[in-house]
Amino acid sequence: MQNILPKTLKLILVAGARPNFMKIAPLIKAVRSHNTKKDNKPKIDAVLVHTGQHYDSNMSDIFFKELGIPEPDINLGVGSGSHAEQTARIMLAFEPVCLKEKPDWVVVVGDVNSTLACSVVASKLGIKVAHVEAGLRSYDRTMPEEINRLVTDALADLLFTPSVDANINLKKEGILAKKIKLVGNIMIDALLSRLPEAEKSRLPLRLHLTPREFIYVTLHRPSNVDRPEILSVIMRKLGKISKRMPVVFPVHPRTNKMLEEINFRAKSYGQLMLIEPVGYTDSLWLAKYARLVLTDSGGLQEETTYFKTPCLTLRPNTERPITIKLGTNKLTSLDNLESDIEEIISGKIKRGTIPKYWDGKTAERIIKHLIAA
Ligand code: UD1
Repeated sequence: MQNILPKTLKLILVAGARPNFMKIAPLIKAVRSHNTKKDNKPKIDAVLVHTGQHYDSNMSDIFFKELGIPEPDINLGVGSGSHAEQTARIMLAFEPVCLKEKPDWVVVVGDVNSTLACSVVASKLGIKVAHVEAGLRSYDRTMPEEINRLVTDALADLLFTPSVDANINLKKEGILAKKIKLVGNIMIDALLSRLPEAEKSRLPLRLHLTPREFIYVTLHRPSNVDRPEILSVIMRKLGKISKRMPVVFPVHPRTNKMLEEINFRAKSYGQLMLIEPVGYTDSLWLAKYARLVLTDSGGLQEETTYFKTPCLTLRPNTERPITIKLGTNKLTSLDNLESDIEEIISGKIKRGTIPKYWDGKTAERIIKHLIAA
């Protein structure tokens, strides 16, 4: 009898911007572990493509090193630009890669411009698209990420969701139930694998930080940082708050540009520490040990829910409502910022729970579904 060898499953894994890297790392690990298994399931050939949307070493390289992600097989090197420019450049560069590699699946993660661009290209070439972190909705189309999420999910053939609210959103949009797989939050896979290193972070020594005696701030959304009058108010308020408790604010390049424009001088506010963007491991330490986190990032809303650290999200909405419903997150506004912070500092904090499947095994579930599909 002829021995029929199982077919190899070929994947292109796409990473583009900082919040993608901690979602791709667990997938690569799960592929490796799948390939070492002695069963008769097809093995996986994964090609890693970095679009180059983020390119600074502290926005990209450091994450590759810390998370043990191998050198990308292909770097499209697209860099910055307007949304149309950046998206178009990624599409132009990604199409020949798909034509040459002929993958069975293109796997995209998150909601950045790279996610959208590569989904459109693959889909038009008739290549199946799998979206990791599907179904999140802020219902705010002024956010570029919301457009990216909507388009990617409309095109995807398999939609891996992090929490039940995402399944509900997708069903409302008419996505077939059989395409939607609740697999949990892949960010927690990365968090758990780096936590032992995070516990050894040297950042607290360098910045003289005591656990629970500082506030961790990250802000980079266009709605908070692109208008000088808004950013000036935020910075003045942070300056005031830092007289009460040290504030650690690693500054994203987008925010930094605007701070330079408004000529903001951090030195005039003693304990307001404006520092370069930190790596993943240091960020985990900050999120775990802060008295509270003030952010507009998606990932930090989830990490703080996992760590049960109080989180204030400076946005009118969130695509991650599970972090409010079950976790420690709360939306805030410029008007409520000081009173919300004061409330947490004075001990009025929400005790959260961790959503289902935020357990470090999400990548493994994803690989099982891809193999079975
Ligand atoms: C992008 C994502 C956002 C994510 C954020 C995390 C989109 C639409 N937005 O926003 O969802 O939360 O990444 O960081 O994809 N820049 C550098 N060095 C870099 C990267 C960017 O200096 O390595 C500067 C560029 O001048 C650029 C600006 O930062 O114009 C913004 O970068 P961009 O990729 O356009 O969007 P982000 O604001 O980083």
